[in-house]
Amino acid sequence: MRICFIASEVAPLAKSGGLADVASALPRALHEQGCDVRVFMPLYAGMSSVGLTLQPLSQARAIELHLGAQRYEVALLHTQIPGSSVPLYLVHCPAAYDRPTLYTGDADEHLRFLILQHAALQGCQRLGFAPQIVHCNDWHTALMPSMLRSLYAWDRLFADARSLLSIHNIGYQGNFPAATIADVGGDIGVQPGTLADGTFNWLREGVLHADAVTTVSPTYAREICTPMGAHGLDATLRSRADGVTGILNGVDYQEWNPAADRYLKHHYTPQDMSGKAATKRTLLDWFNLETGDAPLLGIVSRLTVQKGFDLLFEVLPDILTTRDLGILALGSGDALYETFFTGLQQRFPERVMFHCGYSDELAHLIEAASDMFLMPSMYEPCGLNQMYSLKYGTVPIVRRTGGLADSVQAWDPSTRSGTGIVFNDFDASAVRWALGTALDLYQDRDTWKRLVRNGMAQDFSWPRQSRQYLDLYRRLLGAPVRI
Ligand code: ADP
Ligand code: GLC
Repeated sequence: MRICFIASEVAPLAKSGGLADVASALPRALHEQGCDVRVFMPLYAGMSSVGLTLQPLSQARAIELHLGAQRYEVALLHTQIPGSSVPLYLVHCPAAYDRPTLYTGDADEHLRFLILQHAALQGCQRLGFAPQIVHCNDWHTALMPSMLRSLYAWDRLFADARSLLSIHNIGYQGNFPAATIADVGGDIGVQPGTLADGTFNWLREGVLHADAVTTVSPTYAREICTPMGAHGLDATLRSRADGVTGILNGVDYQEWNPAADRYLKHHYTPQDMSGKAATKRTLLDWFNLETGDAPLLGIVSRLTVQKGFDLLFEVLPDILTTRDLGILALGSGDALYETFFTGLQQRFPERVMFHCGYSDELAHLIEAASDMFLMPSMYEPCGLNQMYSLKYGTVPIVRRTGGLADSVQAWDPSTRSGTGIVFNDFDASAVRWALGTALDLYQDRDTWKRLVRNGMAQDFSWPRQSRQYLDLYRRLLGAPVRI
């Protein structure tokens, strides 16, 4: 099966969150199952320094794009997703991508991702690659279904292509002023009503035109069809006769496995957990924390309102005052939360470490060193860290929402089943209860060991999850397809 997969970020080359992890691991899993997957992403500033071997496509003629009043020269460079032989095509356009961050909020943000989408389709043309599936991800590539049906419909190469849009986070829709529609590069048949509120909403266009819409967990698929969870797109989603398919993300166990993690000096397995204890001691020393054997709570996250940290403003200082625990927190984002965690560290310097920034190494170390991991999300399409935590024997404490609800099973003392602590309500007393429960359970060593073991036995591997995408691709193509 021939698949063109397009994303704004692909790990480890460019990553702001879980989308990058998925856009790296899912194509690799599909490739391993025999699919011919070609991945397209922008070549951002700084990426060329990560030791990639880049080759221009043999047809070296640059792609010339006229978008609005602008003219762009775009080159396509060829490499592989690191650690695999999956072809990766990087869209090289310094005028668009040489910026300090992946996403900018600059006035030409829409042009930056129009370039990606045109370049991906024109890249297929240059390669003579006739995709059967065009798999787009989030708003950055959500116009591709419309583009395939309009601007590129003349090309027989795309005659059999079916489009699939995966929504990783409906909180980001790509809302641009209506006037930007003139920049798209032709008439893409924007649906009447789309511009009624004065904005050109890319994700809405994608939902209306894609042959299938998926999201990253079954519970989130239900949530985004309700007014509460959809950020305004519920009616549009409900208008699709085939609905929204929820497929839980997988975990890349090559990357996230405490028995082989390249960032860990002390590896460990469910049978021998001594490496976890050693990693905990190392990090306590490293950050001068004096919490000894007390439980260590980890947090690794983008610091945005989605992640629910507002609930912690009173709860964490109270818990640190009344209970014995340490905290390792890593994240960056909104100033409100950065200031909160910085203040917490200043107030409890011997018990709280906060690193404000982004670090793959520290993210892995925190997963391994912590005893429990907190994700009090307001909403969470899937969430990956709770699944990493399970593998690392780090008990997740999560709110029952989206993919957190689908991947963490609440501890049940009567059956001694369950993999984490799960709370329902988005309020401070619920998170206070959950943290208190986790700290109490930690004191009962047998129970805690069981909880940890239950979690480590879970399997969310991509080879397994990716089969659900293959089934959907096959259904879209309407006939048995050899992969
Ligand atoms: P989201 O995509 O909403 O940010 P996910 O849980 O799906 O949430 O994925 C987050 C990914 O980004 C995980 O791989 C996590 O380890 C990583 N991550 C988030 N913040 C940081 C950070 N400050 N430093 C390193 N990795 C981070
Ligand atoms: C988004 C979501 C997150 C999900 C990730 C990958 O960023 O916020 O929950 O895990 O995409 O699908």
